[in-house]
Amino acid sequence: MSWRSDNPHLTGNFAPVGTEIDSERLEVLEGAIPEGLAGAYIRNGPNPRYQPSSYNYPLEGDGMLHAVSFENGIARYRNRYVRTRSFEIEDLAGHAVFGGLMSPSPVDAKYLGPDDDPENPFKASAFVSVMQHGDHLLALGEGEPAWEIGPDLETRGPWMAGTGSPILMGAHNRVHPVTGDLFALNYDLMSPTVTIHHIGRDGRLRRSFDVGLAAPSMIHDFVLTERYLVLLIGPAVFDLQKMMEGGSFIQWRGDLGTRIAVVPLDGGKPRWFEAEAFFVFHFANGFERSSEIVIDYVRHQKLYFGYGERNSEPPRLHRLVLDTTSGRIREQPWFEKVVEFPRIDERRTSVSNRYIFAPTLTETLTGGNGASGTFNCLLRVDTETGDISAHDFGNRIAGEAVFIPHGNGETAGWLATYVYDPETDGSELVLLDAGRISDEPVLRLRLPQRVPQGLHGAWVPA
Ligand SMILES: [Fe+2]
Repeated sequence: MSWRSDNPHLTGNFAPVGTEIDSERLEVLEGAIPEGLAGAYIRNGPNPRYQPSSYNYPLEGDGMLHAVSFENGIARYRNRYVRTRSFEIEDLAGHAVFGGLMSPSPVDAKYLGPDDDPENPFKASAFVSVMQHGDHLLALGEGEPAWEIGPDLETRGPWMAGTGSPILMGAHNRVHPVTGDLFALNYDLMSPTVTIHHIGRDGRLRRSFDVGLAAPSMIHDFVLTERYLVLLIGPAVFDLQKMMEGGSFIQWRGDLGTRIAVVPLDGGKPRWFEAEAFFVFHFANGFERSSEIVIDYVRHQKLYFGYGERNSEPPRLHRLVLDTTSGRIREQPWFEKVVEFPRIDERRTSVSNRYIFAPTLTETLTGGNGASGTFNCLLRVDTETGDISAHDFGNRIAGEAVFIPHGNGETAGWLATYVYDPETDGSELVLLDAGRISDEPVLRLRLPQRVPQGLHGAWVPA
């Protein structure tokens, strides 16, 4: 990059990379490429191209996809920016023209085209996650169009889902276990509503409906069960007035508590439940158990953004059980370790799962820069026995692990993650055996460039 920043979320392995490259044959450092492995591990993350006027991880940046694909025993690497409309506008300007989510600023009209909204101060850059639905590979941000990505990671354009206009949706969307339909969510920065999209397995929008909220709220993820969509609405509220007065656009309104909506999938009237204030970015899974809804999630006691503000209580993996008959909520942590980015074998989404895979931070990491969102150890939590097994990467930094199924059962598969070594300033792709995660890796591949710390990934079978 032609610029530097001393923001910890823009230095070390959080620093963006500026080159888009293709590497045809990755070097195997350890283990072997599993026989028959065919597909791609693709991960998205914020990678600001131009020096931003302000930067709040993980809310801003340009999307960049990093993919390692496997075919006939050979692994290739490719990375590409997600070329959203916001990216094109800044590409034309040659510098950052949008402010951040906390400090939005209108864009000079000379950089805008006839279809651009001159009143929109928010960048929409699809840097948070990536998913496949049917034949569609989508790069996703929050409250913005999903961007359809081609097989060579080229950005094709906003996804219309069979309609005449882009579908606005969030980063985390879930596929129904029986019908294969996609449920997607879009919250609004200005109005107290959240829109649910029901998209068929054929990739065409079936219907959209709104759920009313107490205030415009950030809702990053949700739970899908066989019959319900469950929203946990923490009091992270968008407040334009506060921003105009010099405050933050996002306000923590603990007095509102956390409200839980159980929404029938047909758009019927939601049932509401009240809880004390907490925030959720990510759910591991949720499912129905007779009249209960069981939810495993990462609990943040409060929401902080930006460097310098630290969560006094680190995020932890919790289980919440909602009795829909009595309205009673049972709540407890699985353990005391800090975790985020939980994933499961996605074949168990919305039905009961046994295992949760989540990164944590241990004392063996000595070379990080202390920025939040840094992890060096992967945990496997057995929700039947409470047992935890771990793969500690030592002085190397890892991220979210994506489950690659291989056979039947929740331990039949591999866990894929990018791993960064602060001593060599280099990155690897590592595969662990989901059944024996403490063992030496099944595979370590040397990557041709550093892969910055990112957010969410997906396995896309060939
Ligand atoms: Fe996320």
